[in-house]
Amino acid sequence: MISNLIKNGINGTPIIPGDKSISHRSVIIPSISNGICEIDNILKSEDVLHTINAFKKMGVKIEEVSEKLIIYGKGLNSLKKPTNEIFLGNSGTSARLLTGLLSSQKFDSILKGDESLSKRPMGRIADPLNNMNAKINTSNGTLPITIKGNELKATKIDLKIPSAQIKSGIMLASLNTEGETNIIENRVTRDHTEIMLEAFGANIDIKNKGDRKMIKIIGKKELHSKNIVVPNDLSSSAFFIVCALINKNSNLVLKGINNNPTRNGLVLALKKMGAKMTLTNKRFSNNEIVCDIKVSSTNLKGCELGPEFADLMIDEYPILAIAASFADSPSIFRGLKELKVKESDRLKLIVHNLQNCGVDCKTENNDLYINPSKNYKIKSKNIKTDYDHRIAMSFAIMGTKIGPLNIAESDSINTSFPNFKDELNRLGGNIL
Ligand code: S3P
Repeated sequence: MISNLIKNGINGTPIIPGDKSISHRSVIIPSISNGICEIDNILKSEDVLHTINAFKKMGVKIEEVSEKLIIYGKGLNSLKKPTNEIFLGNSGTSARLLTGLLSSQKFDSILKGDESLSKRPMGRIADPLNNMNAKINTSNGTLPITIKGNELKATKIDLKIPSAQIKSGIMLASLNTEGETNIIENRVTRDHTEIMLEAFGANIDIKNKGDRKMIKIIGKKELHSKNIVVPNDLSSSAFFIVCALINKNSNLVLKGINNNPTRNGLVLALKKMGAKMTLTNKRFSNNEIVCDIKVSSTNLKGCELGPEFADLMIDEYPILAIAASFADSPSIFRGLKELKVKESDRLKLIVHNLQNCGVDCKTENNDLYINPSKNYKIKSKNIKTDYDHRIAMSFAIMGTKIGPLNIAESDSINTSFPNFKDELNRLGGNIL
């Protein structure tokens, strides 16, 4: 993919796809609930299709009827042993959440992924589950994972790594576990699983104590399905928001965007940078906050973000780094260790690609420093992505300001935003 300069900004109302995290949960939770669930606006990207296929393989009836996905759930113990391995492509969310769910089923299963997912750490989900008596074997801490379904022991788990995927995997395991599982989250992460489980009638109790959160789940209680409307994805919106901010003559209105406070660090960070951005029409949809976002071209200023921001916007640092490269003062983003274990080592790729674009930047102790300038001298226009969708889209937006840039392996964008290129071009972008 080649991302070229745009001349007259981007303008209009982009069609942003459904939220990826909520889409995965909209397949997983109704598949183990009782009743029929109609899902509107589910993200139809490769990652979510892998989750859908996994449940079809385990005997769940899932149909697509005029744009909606219909899931016929039959309860906590209704899944069938898959006839062969479950392949999850690039999807870390599917891998961590399914490891949890399958650990407390009555059958054995094997999870596999593509080359990139097969390098990502899985001990972080297997270890706490094995402490609950699960029988999970990883391949040196990575996929493939073999799971021997087992009766787990409800215990107290103190989460050491801030990760919604680990938390959610354990929550899903505990639903089919006798007794009281207590999860302590020391740094709050996205809470889509908690919100949906509460709505589906799980025996769940949540208490916030300062920065910590205690989640208590009493297992073996059957869940009841509800219809779901998936809000639009703030993480996918971020590419359009930053594109409008850094390009002159741009005005966008993004509609129905999820603004969950455990997930909206990008909005807070951009406001700190002086972004001309307003959030209106705030409302609830399936207990998730949704709003419309109006954004226009801005001369941004740099900002310093502490590590607490990382939990609220971990997926948005690649695109925030692009915004910071066009600000009129330096930025420091602190505490980005978790960025190293995403679909790629994002911290390394941000610095490598920005430096090739001529941006003065560095990392030190997992902090990212960006020192922007008015003119960039490109050293190489070849952007390395290691098949990471968010790196590809972020540098496509970089290309709108300094292009042309050659984005390698841009097919990865299909994992989260299949229409990204067409949507950007429709509103004034120039991507080939
Ligand atoms: C996700 C949680 C985050 C995020 C990922 C989606 C989820 O990962 O980076 O894209 O759906 O729970 P971690 O929870 O591992 O930080």
